[in-house]
Amino acid sequence: MSVKIIGTGSALPQKEITNEDLAQLVETSDEWVRERTGIGSRHISTGETVVSLAVRACEKALENAGKTASEVEMLLVATCTPERGIPCAACQVQSQLGAADAVAFDLNAACAGFLFALHTAWAYIEAGIYENALIAGSEVLSKIIDWTDRGTCVLFGDGAGAVLLERSNMPGILGFVQHSDGTKGEVLKCDSRQLKNPYISEPINFPYVQMDGREVFAFAVRQVPACITETLQKVQLTPGDVDLFVLHQANKRIIEGISKRLSVEMEKFPMNLDRVGNMSSAAIPVLLDELNREGRLREGMTLVLSGFGAGLTYGACALRW
Ligand code: ACO
Repeated sequence: MSVKIIGTGSALPQKEITNEDLAQLVETSDEWVRERTGIGSRHISTGETVVSLAVRACEKALENAGKTASEVEMLLVATCTPERGIPCAACQVQSQLGAADAVAFDLNAACAGFLFALHTAWAYIEAGIYENALIAGSEVLSKIIDWTDRGTCVLFGDGAGAVLLERSNMPGILGFVQHSDGTKGEVLKCDSRQLKNPYISEPINFPYVQMDGREVFAFAVRQVPACITETLQKVQLTPGDVDLFVLHQANKRIIEGISKRLSVEMEKFPMNLDRVGNMSSAAIPVLLDELNREGRLREGMTLVLSGFGAGLTYGACALRW
């Protein structure tokens, strides 16, 4: 028995914003952003929400798998930008999808959120509790970006991706590794709602992303290859056995650094960040869906998924497609 991804889907907001568009807002240039990050444009919400994007992505994943919403037993939404504190985004998605029998809840592990949700769902299915799980990574990061900060506003995009996971007799997920390091939480943070009550005169938090880019960069280039190596050792594979590395899309230079440390050619690291930017928990499932729909994923291929982000959190998953 294994647990296998049997369908993928994704959804992006309609509006696309180029680096040139951003240069109208802050002092930056297409050349600077492309050179430092690899990002050329991103999709930004003009009304789409974490819930509406996740619903669209989930519908496509179900269609791709040939399943209906009423068959879904578990529904997880990984997000760090939900519209509501309560109810959770997953319950809203459940209602709009009509997945009446699914238990639904959210999970926030920032950019590693989708991977952590995948691991959670896998554990439930492995334990025999559920037969299947629909997992979405959905973000509207544009709500928590300080649009006057050129150091962060050029990096992020909005979007959602989803996969359907099911118990299977075919080879599927081989193994996982997850890590968290809360002591480094300050290098990438965003406060939640402002503390505002009759007993406080000044707001004491800052509800926008603040980042020490160099620290995040160094962390990703050091920890992600180590985590991928740990995962592959666990399932008795080597980097050379892997057909594709589907990594969190934060920065092209980070991915190049990881490829170098693993001694694996860049051709095995597909990227879409030039068109979508960093979509946090949506990055991996959107890229996976694009690869699936382009016919680049063939049955039996070995893939490594790896996410990393605020927390700090990071993890990797090895699987057979
Ligand atoms: N356009 C033009 N100049 C800029 C911009 C911009 N958009 N942003 C910063 N600069 C300037 C800075 O002000 C600074 O100017 P100064 O030298 O006059 O002070 C100069 O460029 C260098 O700034 P650094 O921050 O040192 O630039 P760096 O080369 O480190 O690149 C970057 C910044 C792209 C953010 C890089 O650190 C990075 O990619 N870090 C990884 C962080 C990341 O990807 N985060 C995404 C979220 S985390 C996640 O998803 C895991």
